[in-house]
Amino acid sequence: MEVPKKIIILGVTSSISIYKACEIIREFQKEGLDVHVVMTKNASRLISPRLFSTLSGNEVLLDLFEETGSPSISHITLTQGADLLLVAPATANIIGKFVSGVADDALSTVYMAADCPVVVAPAMNERMYLHRSTYKNIQRLKSAGVKFIEPDKGYLACGDEGLGRLASPREIVKKCLKFINKATSLNHKCVLVTAGPTREFFDPVRFISSRSSGKMGFELAEEALRRGAEVILISGPSHITPHRGIKLIKVQTAKEMRTEVMRSFDQADIVMMAAAVSDFTFNTKAKQKIKKRELSKNIKLGRTQDILAELGRKKGNKILIGFAAETEDLKKNALEKVKEKNLDFIVANDVSKTDIGFDSDENKVCIYYKSGKSVLTDKKSKLEISQIILDEIEDIIGEKSG
Ligand SMILES: Cc1cc2nc3c(=O)[nH]c(=O)nc-3n(C[C@H](O)[C@H](O)[C@H](O)COP(=O)(O)O)c2cc1C
Repeated sequence: MEVPKKIIILGVTSSISIYKACEIIREFQKEGLDVHVVMTKNASRLISPRLFSTLSGNEVLLDLFEETGSPSISHITLTQGADLLLVAPATANIIGKFVSGVADDALSTVYMAADCPVVVAPAMNERMYLHRSTYKNIQRLKSAGVKFIEPDKGYLACGDEGLGRLASPREIVKKCLKFINKATSLNHKCVLVTAGPTREFFDPVRFISSRSSGKMGFELAEEALRRGAEVILISGPSHITPHRGIKLIKVQTAKEMRTEVMRSFDQADIVMMAAAVSDFTFNTKAKQKIKKRELSKNIKLGRTQDILAELGRKKGNKILIGFAAETEDLKKNALEKVKEKNLDFIVANDVSKTDIGFDSDENKVCIYYKSGKSVLTDKKSKLEISQIILDEIEDIIGEKSG
């Protein structure tokens, strides 16, 4: 049976380097991919859509409202089977539109409808590229999961020298192929992630909990999904809504967390325990709200079960990752945990810093392996940290399979 070709949507905008889009189409075709071009109206003023339809062998989408004789809605049909949306060259304008959710033409609407990986290769004059608005827009899209292929430095078509020249078509296609492969790198794997805090109630109204927004665990779950895994996310209370492709199991207490983790553990190949499970619980939970004057009489703290240690004992061939939030002796404590709990590695972060970690979109972590190997990240978005963690996991899978 013939394997269906991978489908690339190539978004083309009105940059002077638009002619390089022709070479990008050719490079994809050499690799056996099927390219569908979506152009902005301004791009069609620089190059005729006819050139792109001839090169790609597919109709070009330029006008959403054009009467085509088909009842299907082109931006929805096109995005349904796509493996990747690449915008190359991307103007400062289209990047700004993507950030703000403007969908007033074919390409910006396709971007909103796409749920495949999105890659943007900017091309513009250096002053435009280094403009504060462009810089901020790129950062915001990066933290929303859009990949960027940075422009080169050199001679620009406007006559200036500097940063902003579209990366070479070969380089762009090579990177896109990597991103497409990444989108299936965890196919047939089941990934179990825990996230958020737990709540230990001592009466119907009050509880103790740990500081955790759940962001790190949710990012890990989404990244695993993007790589093709089946994902189960067991989360304590959090305001985040995960992607609909993730199976979300909501829990409140450490006991409920343990029950659900144990229920899903057997089917998982990779387990990432990012939840801040409470170490303490109350020996009894009152049925009625306890009066203030009786608080000290009625509250007795006990320990919760150590879920991670329990999983470490029954780990077998699974990959088991722990997380440690420390305020001191980060390395020593992390290395002890990695050994004690039989983990593949532990992701440690120093929560004494106020600008990263808790509630923040950013973090800086150090990954410690049993062997003593460590990987230190810079301060990065939690999405980028989740990519680093999953890359490490994929390396372990690669080593195991030989
Ligand atoms: C000849 C020419 C070359 C241009 N090159 C660029 C460019 O390389 N990068 C860019 O961001 N804008 C460039 N512009 C400006 C954009 O075309 C302009 O911002 C336009 O509104 C973008 O529309 P679009 O994003 O819908 O294609 C150029 C304009 C002209 C006339």
